[in-house]
Amino acid sequence: MDKFKVMVIQGPNLNMLGLREPNVYGSMRLQDIHQQMKVVADQYGAEIEFFQSNFEGEIVDKIQECLGEVDGIIINAAAYTHTSVAIRDAISAINLPTIEVHISNVYRREEFRQKSLIAPVCAGVIVGFGPVGYHLAMIGMLQIFDQIKAVKNAQQADKE
Ligand code: DQA
Repeated sequence: MDKFKVMVIQGPNLNMLGLREPNVYGSMRLQDIHQQMKVVADQYGAEIEFFQSNFEGEIVDKIQECLGEVDGIIINAAAYTHTSVAIRDAISAINLPTIEVHISNVYRREEFRQKSLIAPVCAGVIVGFGPVGYHLAMIGMLQIFDQIKAVKNAQQADKE
């Protein structure tokens, strides 16, 4: 079986992690978070790719490009989480297992952050664990891959 592939998509201002409101988002930089995710992916034998954009349309394009290319998406759509019907529709259109991550506990913050347009089209949501949330999302994604593998193996066994 080919390697499973995860796409990690980071929305606006997440390129500023480490500098940006460290009391809310912690002191880890985005590249450090990605490095740790890569270690987990390598241990599992999965491929992983990273994408960050401050532009909604670029994020929509990247999600569409995932179709047929990757097996799952981990996304922190940042501020677009609360506003973007376009990102929600793109996730819904490609129908790949998608995990939403938020570094901060958005449910303890301003009211406008307490609504996610994306959560209803995601397999799961991880909120409020700081940068460790990305690690938890990786574990969740690898669990989903194990399930896909088990279903494929069972279907193969049925054929034989
Ligand atoms: C965030 C929460 C969003 O409300 C905010 O706009 C972000 C980051 C988080 O990871 O906690 O940029 O998605």
